[in-house]
Amino acid sequence: MKEILAELESRRETARLGGGQRRIDAQHSKGKLTARERIEILLDEGSFEEFDMFKQHRCTDFGMDEQHIPGDGVVTGWGTVNGRTVYVFSKDFTVFGGSLSETHAEKITKLQDMALRNRAPIIGLFDAGGARIQEGVAALGGYGEVFARNVQASGVIPQISLIMGPCAGGDVYSPAMTDFIFMVRDTSYMFVTGPDVVKTVTNETVTAEQLGGASIHTTKSSIADGAFDNDVEALLEMRRLIDFLPMNNMADVPEIETHDEADRIDMSLDSLIPDNPNKPYDMKELVLKTVDEGDFYEIQPSFAANIITGFGRIEGRTVGIIANQPMVLAGVLDSDASRKAARFVRFCDCFSIPIVTFVDVPGFLPGTAQEYGGLIKHGAKLLFAYSEATVPKVTVITRKAYGGAYDVMSSKHIRGDINYAWPTAEIAVMGAKGAVEILYRSELSDKEKIAKRTKDYEDRFANPFVAAERGYIDDVIRPHSTRRRVSKALALLRSKQVETPWKKHDNIPL
Ligand code: HXC
Repeated sequence: MKEILAELESRRETARLGGGQRRIDAQHSKGKLTARERIEILLDEGSFEEFDMFKQHRCTDFGMDEQHIPGDGVVTGWGTVNGRTVYVFSKDFTVFGGSLSETHAEKITKLQDMALRNRAPIIGLFDAGGARIQEGVAALGGYGEVFARNVQASGVIPQISLIMGPCAGGDVYSPAMTDFIFMVRDTSYMFVTGPDVVKTVTNETVTAEQLGGASIHTTKSSIADGAFDNDVEALLEMRRLIDFLPMNNMADVPEIETHDEADRIDMSLDSLIPDNPNKPYDMKELVLKTVDEGDFYEIQPSFAANIITGFGRIEGRTVGIIANQPMVLAGVLDSDASRKAARFVRFCDCFSIPIVTFVDVPGFLPGTAQEYGGLIKHGAKLLFAYSEATVPKVTVITRKAYGGAYDVMSSKHIRGDINYAWPTAEIAVMGAKGAVEILYRSELSDKEKIAKRTKDYEDRFANPFVAAERGYIDDVIRPHSTRRRVSKALALLRSKQVETPWKKHDNIPL
């Protein structure tokens, strides 16, 4: 028996060494942790239960029958994050560059099946060179099996991808179908085809970082939802994110003990809005002062910063926050902001996370660049997402709510549940200046007349009361009581139920 146990331990030791000490050292020298070290940080101490540690590839081509490394380039299993179950797979770059073989794919799909069956989140840690070149079509088939399961699980369990090294070729599409992608700055990159292929096909010369580093995907392409400075920070931030998310689409949002009173008022909010309506202010201040203990997990902070999206808590329960940011492009809705917010709204709706919307929006961004870029379709995404969402929706208009953007930003008309406005709100088809220029074009040369017309328009529409008289606004609230009023609204809406007509699925403008 002793020998059998020794044999087991020796096999485990071999598996834990992955591609060997030389490759582990190389991994460390690049500032990266190994697949197993990453899992240790991600999960609660000692909670990891590994599957398929001894699994090996079946390839015999290109000398592969001589090279067998137990585990086959991916570590899979489950554990807990602050006591809650998560499934995790972690690509091992020290084993054939973390490349995906048929058996490597089988390990991932087994885990995906378990996560879906047991309704718990799955996190993938990526650091890999794509399809195992020696395996050819078997590797392609393996990717397809993974992709299909990503789609099956979408909207049922949260799926998160963390890119911690190369992620190229087939490896990019599984993350792309998960709910969130995060990256590690300077050590990770994602692209469908690498710099060499790009050079051959388009004659462009780019580095891996310029083509698909975190700096690109968090600012230009919006592929990544955030980036972190190193492996440890990234993994700890994943733990923080998991704490905000429900286990699955049938589970309630997590409830975390808080010492922040739900009826806390904040007098400083009464002076948040500047006297000059064209002067910006930082909407994030309102967000941070509304959520429990100022704890806000921002999604896509560096992309389309004219809209803020992220998770917070009220009374210890997760909420999704969407807010126009007057500090960036005056908080206007453009194609990027619309896409960003629409995807976030849909995530919240999938997982029954109530949505709180703060509105200060001067409208949609005019111009050929926007129109040619499909603003109508992208704006419609946000309109569609808010309209179809059946989760509790609480809206607070702080200042401008102009034109179509008023309707889009979770208005009463698209099934906003509780809609509040601050006394500083201006709800109108457009701003006074634009309106007067259209209505009184013939008087434009008469400065005095125009000033009077502008004042008349402002007196009539630059307030929340016209909308409140019609019931489009449920109440005009004092800024300092925003947290209290939002908390009460959310408590009221906990039992919300909505019937939707049967459909296979809707047809959101993509
Ligand atoms: C098999 C691979 C591999 C792969 C890397 N390795 N990629 N083995 N299949 N795809 C092995 C290397 O042979 C090497 O083995 C070890 O992993 C480390 O690789 P290096 O090249 O030494 O590392 P580095 O210099 O850091 O470069 C990393 C890399 C590069 C940029 C990822 O390895 C690379 O370009 N790999 C190929 C990427 C690629 O084209 N993949 C196929 C994409 S097509 P040793 O023994 O020396 O340690 C694809 C199609 C699927 O994925 C589509 C499905 C939809």
